[in-house]
Amino acid sequence: MMCLTIPVQVKGFNETGKPLVQSIGTTNLFAVDNSLVPDIKIDDWLLCISGLVLKKIPPEDALEIIDFLKFSNIVTERRVSEKFSKTIRNAHSGALTRDEIIYLLNTEGSEAATLYEEALLTRQMNIRDFICIHGVIEFSNYCSNDCLYCGLRAQNQSLKRYRMAKEEIIEAVFKATAKGYKLLVLQSGEDMNYDKELLGEIIKTIKSKARVFIFLSIGERGYEIYKELKNAGASGILLRFETSDPELFKRLHEKGKDLKNRLEHLNFLKTLGYFIATGFLVGLPGQTLEILASDILTTVRLAPEMVSVGPYIPSMELEAEKRERLMELTLKVISILRLLLKRTRIPISTALDTIDPENGRKMALRAGANALMFILTPEKYRSLYSLYPNRYFQESDPWERYGLFKYERSYDMLEERLQKEI
Ligand code: 5AD
Repeated sequence: MMCLTIPVQVKGFNETGKPLVQSIGTTNLFAVDNSLVPDIKIDDWLLCISGLVLKKIPPEDALEIIDFLKFSNIVTERRVSEKFSKTIRNAHSGALTRDEIIYLLNTEGSEAATLYEEALLTRQMNIRDFICIHGVIEFSNYCSNDCLYCGLRAQNQSLKRYRMAKEEIIEAVFKATAKGYKLLVLQSGEDMNYDKELLGEIIKTIKSKARVFIFLSIGERGYEIYKELKNAGASGILLRFETSDPELFKRLHEKGKDLKNRLEHLNFLKTLGYFIATGFLVGLPGQTLEILASDILTTVRLAPEMVSVGPYIPSMELEAEKRERLMELTLKVISILRLLLKRTRIPISTALDTIDPENGRKMALRAGANALMFILTPEKYRSLYSLYPNRYFQESDPWERYGLFKYERSYDMLEERLQKEI
């Protein structure tokens, strides 16, 4: 966190000397408060939040961000069927049947394009163009589970394992908060070495020194530890249910894991007062469109604060055509979720970046997603956290540089927003 907003350009000054700015694509001018950033000139590009100028940025960066967020306010006229229009209307009213979801997952051409546009409009009407930026620190790749799809599975003996020491984790967190991150996910395999005492100490130290939301992504660890860690100051949990089909879940997860236990975790985590981030994998072997539609409905029923979905990446190289199909299916899933969960945070998964590093993010934002997840794991460990091959990573981009407002106000805004969303 925090948020990236659309840059505005200075067009003049009002009678009290405040800059008058214009948003791209509009003709309205509005005055902004420049008390934090003096020395503003005509044609400068600014980042503002709630009418307050936070930063001046170079024109080329402004244009890159605008290009990223570019949108059309008007849904272009397209040829769509009566059935499609009716289904979209139902989606807007917040309820779709399983068959209707399957129908939308099967759309093609101009109907698929309209689905994305409707989702984008829904995002803009409900949460505007705030794109939230979160960070993830992967502190251990040890895992006692054997999920067939995952590179960290216990049986994968070729993987070099690492554990970050308490001090290293805390250092990585403070490095991130100094940059302006306000929401960080601490993630690991299911690693019992980090017990409630150790994790509790880490969280308490972080919370005593920095104003940052900590989300944990540490797997199915039982009620007790989660209760303790809530008291230590953790705010949220990221735990995907992966698939809503009990049979498929069993097949993909060994060692007596079942869907029931996963869903029970999600339920008690909610009653403990955690913010919940959950979701599933798109394109798992054995996943039918019926199952995928149920995944969407299960997510809606769980009413999480954040939805985490991503394409399943097999260990072998995906052919271009398959990659494209997987991308389209994931974008449709994001759009349907956006139509149904209007204000929920939908981050773009690293797996989606991985299957199309060039355009994945842009397409997902235009299909209704609204958050980015940056990997902040120290470099020496990064490649060892190999959930799947060739994981996307980008050293630095304008999103991170300009999306992270160091102001305390952005933490308050996030807090307000999270409260409102529950
Ligand atoms: N492709 C995509 N995502 C994967 N994950 C694990 N393996 C893969 C894969 N092969 C995801 C799981 C898990 C998260 C940490 O990583 O959904 O919840």
